[in-house]
Amino acid sequence: MRCPPIAGTLLTFVLPVMSQTILDVWQTTWDKSRLFTNVGVNTSVNFQAPGAPASVDIQINDSTYFQVMVGHGASLTDSSAKLLNQLKSQNSGSYWALIGTLFDPTDGHNSAGLSYLRVPLGSSDFSDSLYTFASSTNDGLASFNIENAPGYLFSTIADIQTVNPGIKVHLLPWSPPPWMKTSNSMNGGEFIDSFTNTYAMYLLKSLQGFKNKGITAYAIGIQNEPENSDSTYPTCIFTPTQEANVGMALRPLMDSNGFGGTKIIAYEHNWVDGGQYPVQVLQQANSQFAGAGFHCYAGNYSQQGQFESAFPSKEVYFTECTGLFGTDWWTNIKWWMNNLYTGSVNNWAKAVLMWNIALDGNGQPLLPGTSSCKNPSCRGVVTINGGSYTLNEEYYTMAQASRAITPKDPGGPWGQRIGVNVAGSNAWTLQVTAFVTMRNNPSDWWRYSIVVLNWNDNNNGAWNPQNVAATISFRGQQTTFSFPVGVTTLWWYAAPK
Ligand SMILES: *[C@@H]1O[C@H](CO)[C@@H](O)[C@H](O)[C@H]1NC(C)=O
Ligand SMILES: *[C@@H]1O[C@H](CO)[C@@H](O)[C@H](O)[C@H]1NC(C)=O
Ligand SMILES: *[C@@H]1O[C@H](CO)[C@@H](O)[C@H](O)[C@H]1NC(C)=O
Repeated sequence: MRCPPIAGTLLTFVLPVMSQTILDVWQTTWDKSRLFTNVGVNTSVNFQAPGAPASVDIQINDSTYFQVMVGHGASLTDSSAKLLNQLKSQNSGSYWALIGTLFDPTDGHNSAGLSYLRVPLGSSDFSDSLYTFASSTNDGLASFNIENAPGYLFSTIADIQTVNPGIKVHLLPWSPPPWMKTSNSMNGGEFIDSFTNTYAMYLLKSLQGFKNKGITAYAIGIQNEPENSDSTYPTCIFTPTQEANVGMALRPLMDSNGFGGTKIIAYEHNWVDGGQYPVQVLQQANSQFAGAGFHCYAGNYSQQGQFESAFPSKEVYFTECTGLFGTDWWTNIKWWMNNLYTGSVNNWAKAVLMWNIALDGNGQPLLPGTSSCKNPSCRGVVTINGGSYTLNEEYYTMAQASRAITPKDPGGPWGQRIGVNVAGSNAWTLQVTAFVTMRNNPSDWWRYSIVVLNWNDNNNGAWNPQNVAATISFRGQQTTFSFPVGVTTLWWYAAPK
């Protein structure tokens, strides 16, 4: 199914002799004839003196810089880790192939190079049973035990770290311990103010527990979906003031215990309140929070922009959206590309994360008794059934977007979003994001990459997929490229500015 990484090996020889050539092209097409396929080096594509622009002209502005990306990914729930662990015991070759396909960051390698994992602290709706790290009431958290999480959660992260040592881990609870809540249960209820300091200590102990397992968190959140209370699975209501108060208690604890480099991220809920809830948190606790996380289930990506307008120096993370079984492959690809990898990224997201990285073909295992992710059931980025796996559209779209931003140099700079404008009478046919990836060595050429959705697939409602022959303008030069209906990621190299 997959081609060898031709471009990665040719690059060293090709680079010195060609200028601004499109060196590498990856495609996923609507008809699945290409599935994150490396189309390879196309030497006939060269930037030259400009002619007339085509009816679609992709204009790259490499003087306009936006956010630096940190990597795409998904959540490693207990259920995802359990399935991955079962795959490992049933077919370890397949398991390691999958871990490599998802996480290997090697430039030019035929893998998505995913670099961002969100991990629930305690149980979520994708756990075998309800648990918290501190089950006893009022013992000063003496009962805190990180081992309450299943062992396969930590062993799976450790395996991923062997393939991608730079993997970023973002921790956050679906609920505080039951005794800090009005419901006295992991399920539903509201946070009780008098536990603010105790809860901050609980989060610090969680960070320490993970660190003792070799996992130093990149970020931590206070509460997943703080506007959601559901009596069938771990959830908890926090007001913006409560979240701000926990952040103010947690930040100094983290700073004085070796977690000064770990970010606190606010909100982690739907776009629709993006202009309110996280703004209210940051108004009360500006210096404690690095930014906010957003989910796709209500509202739209423009509301991330409302948060960024209120706090331009803060960071935006798109942290959750799920695929659903029984939906159309190509329709989903258009939705993910338009709303997440274009809409959300163009509204400041430094990372785009899907929900479960792996589930089985029925969207299981789910927490017994939960009402979430039923009819239709949720789909993972990959589907694992026993000893084998399949890659879903959630994988292909993420891989196409991820490859455009992963560092060219191991451990080197990430892609930074740059200006792009799609002009011309047929501009609507393409959705485009553009990035520059700088280099460790100041004399090495920079990589310029674009991720392009061609959704020109109908004529007045009748199915009619059409290639789009576009011109690409860059530094006063021009090239042409024919984009099939689907997603194309391509890049070229140019001298540093
Ligand atoms: C590119 O961006 C810069 C900086 O924002 C701006 O001054 C310039 O006008 C833009 N160029 C074009 C061709 O749009
Ligand atoms: C996003 O939501 C806002 C507020 O409801 C609305 O004005 C805007 O048109 C929406 N944008 C898109 C792209 O749907
Ligand atoms: C190279 O790109 C040109 C221009 O888009 C296209 O016509 C040609 O078919 C491509 N060649 C290959 C081998 O893909």
